[in-house]
Amino acid sequence: MPYGWEGEKTRLVPLDREKHFDNALRWMNDPDLTAWMLSGDYPLTRVGEEEFFARVSRPNAEDVVFAVETLDGRHIGLTGLHRIDHRHGTALTGSLIGLRELWGQGYGTDMIRARTHYATNVLGLRLLWSEVMVGNDRSLRALLRAGYREAGRIPGFYWKRGAYRDKIMLYLRRDDHAA
Ligand SMILES: CC(C)(COP(=O)(O)OP(=O)(O)OC[C@H]1O[C@@H](n2cnc3c(N)ncnc32)[C@H](O)[C@@H]1OP(=O)(O)O)[C@@H](O)C(=O)NCCC(=O)NCCS
Repeated sequence: MPYGWEGEKTRLVPLDREKHFDNALRWMNDPDLTAWMLSGDYPLTRVGEEEFFARVSRPNAEDVVFAVETLDGRHIGLTGLHRIDHRHGTALTGSLIGLRELWGQGYGTDMIRARTHYATNVLGLRLLWSEVMVGNDRSLRALLRAGYREAGRIPGFYWKRGAYRDKIMLYLRRDDHAA
């Protein structure tokens, strides 16, 4: 029986070492996949990824990380709520679809929507925020399409792959989303 939080094309499921670990390790060490991510510029060892899996797999008030699967159970990505702050009702969101051949087909947008549903309705968070580097048009479009709004830009904030890149700050408020 399938389990997890279901969107129209994706399902967010708990991380499973057997099913998701090797993909996560491979994806996070792929320079193309991480071209616009904050992660990916230092080698991620098996030990490092094991520590990450162990940390986010323990009951943990600050991070919720899901594996993203298609509705028929294929592992396609990872997504998370980080720096969860229950007092302020906020969390930083991030994601990766590791199967490049599936990009641009709406999986990312659907995954973001499912994560928003979980964050707002299940955890009761009020405001989600995210950061995208200028140039990561796909991520920006997926976030905007899923209801995030741009709050502003800081020029040249990030050093990434040979240049300083502007940081775009985005947010989604539960109340706007429900409206
Ligand atoms: C960002 C990511 C999760 C988006 O997933 P996805 O499945 O490709 O997203 P979707 O198909 O739902 O939406 C992509 C949007 O980009 C558009 N798009 C497709 N190809 C594009 C391209 N070459 N350039 C710009 N936009 C493109 C799509 O049309 C869609 O927008 P629209 O339908 O509103 O026009 C995925 O590309 C990814 O994992 N990238 C690498 C990791 C990453 O950068 N993560 C985010 C860090 S902030």
